[in-house]
Amino acid sequence: MLALANFSPPDPIPLPAPVWIFKVLHCTVLSLHFVTVQWMLGWLLIGLVWNFFGRARQNAPMIAGSGRIAGTLPILMTYLINFGIPPLLFAQVLYGNFLYTSSVLIGAWWMSVIALVILTYSALYAGSMRAEKTRGWWGFGLVALLLAVSIAKIYSTNMTLMLRPEAWVEMFRANAHGTGLPPADPTTTPRWLFMLAGGLTVGGLALITTGARKKASAENGFLVFHGGWIAAAGALLQAAVAWRVFHTQPQAIQTKLSASAFYGPLPIVWLALAAVVVVLGLLATVLREKATGWLATGAALLGVLLTATMTIYRDGIRDLTLLANGFDVWDAKVVANWPVVLLFLAIFVAGLLGMGWLIAVVLKSKPQVAESQIQIEEPVQ
Ligand code: HEM
Repeated sequence: MLALANFSPPDPIPLPAPVWIFKVLHCTVLSLHFVTVQWMLGWLLIGLVWNFFGRARQNAPMIAGSGRIAGTLPILMTYLINFGIPPLLFAQVLYGNFLYTSSVLIGAWWMSVIALVILTYSALYAGSMRAEKTRGWWGFGLVALLLAVSIAKIYSTNMTLMLRPEAWVEMFRANAHGTGLPPADPTTTPRWLFMLAGGLTVGGLALITTGARKKASAENGFLVFHGGWIAAAGALLQAAVAWRVFHTQPQAIQTKLSASAFYGPLPIVWLALAAVVVVLGLLATVLREKATGWLATGAALLGVLLTATMTIYRDGIRDLTLLANGFDVWDAKVVANWPVVLLFLAIFVAGLLGMGWLIAVVLKSKPQVAESQIQIEEPVQ
């Protein structure tokens, strides 16, 4: 157990709303952020592979599929960012002492995220503009994927470092300029890989949803088929990585997680949902263009539930780790300002509804590149 002196004293300004409200809001928006992160990582990988091989083999469904992906990615990125900002604010309110300290310690890396996000966005736009003209975009896709994977690694590094106050003083002594990185931590890479593997699961499920909700066609059947096996493979891979995520935690945290009445059952819930993903994915590979709206809805729902379960458990890892370090987030001083809280909640719900409406508009929009329009203009070297 660490002494409280290892981190700065709690913020003297009390919380303006009960902790549970911040927790619910935080986990809700963070789940949405993680859905979009995984969706984007998965679609980038799938899209660029289809674009590369589709052009090399003159495979029209692959090129059409990759065109649809490329057209969606810049829009998806706006959601990813907008769903990332609120949890950043909530995390700073609840865990400011920890998150600020770890962010400053790796300040140069942390600030580089801004530039990396802008570059990722630019690569996505450049890719989608090339796809619109039915030109190859896999090069831009690869750049965007590498950038996004690096951003994810910086996030995993910071979110792990904020849980390790015992490492802070030494890190600061060794390098006070924010250009250093934390000492090796066995939990960082598994949690990063878990999110990357989630790209296959959520990306595959999103393909099923995209293909199955439109009218039956060979092009949509192609999306459903490939979405099915990719989602199933992703869920299995994630289950393997989840095992690593759990078993690399300090023994005391593993014991606390398992003993917790709230967090203890969550791995079972997650595994059950992952098993349903595998079954639904395999079903999708059989149904192909015969898949209907219920498969689309089921896939979308599963992606959100699976991610939300993981997000809540991840929150438990943080809270129990910080508790072992002497910080109880539930002990925060609260002086609720109810009129402001209610106004905020009303605006928050209106914002979510607005976003939902925008998503519905996007989903109803026509694909950018129909299979029938495809002409391969550029030969592939
Ligand atoms: C391509 C861009 C991005 C990618 C790939 C990405 C990926 C990730 C990943 C993998 C994590 C989890 C790290 C872990 O716990 O191991 C994460 C957490 C987070 N991301 Fe993003 N992210 C991106 C952009 C953003 C942006 C632009 C924001 C906000 C301005 C944001 C806000 C957050 C927050 C607040 C968390 C953690 C919150 C918490 O632990 O409470 N992300 N992100």
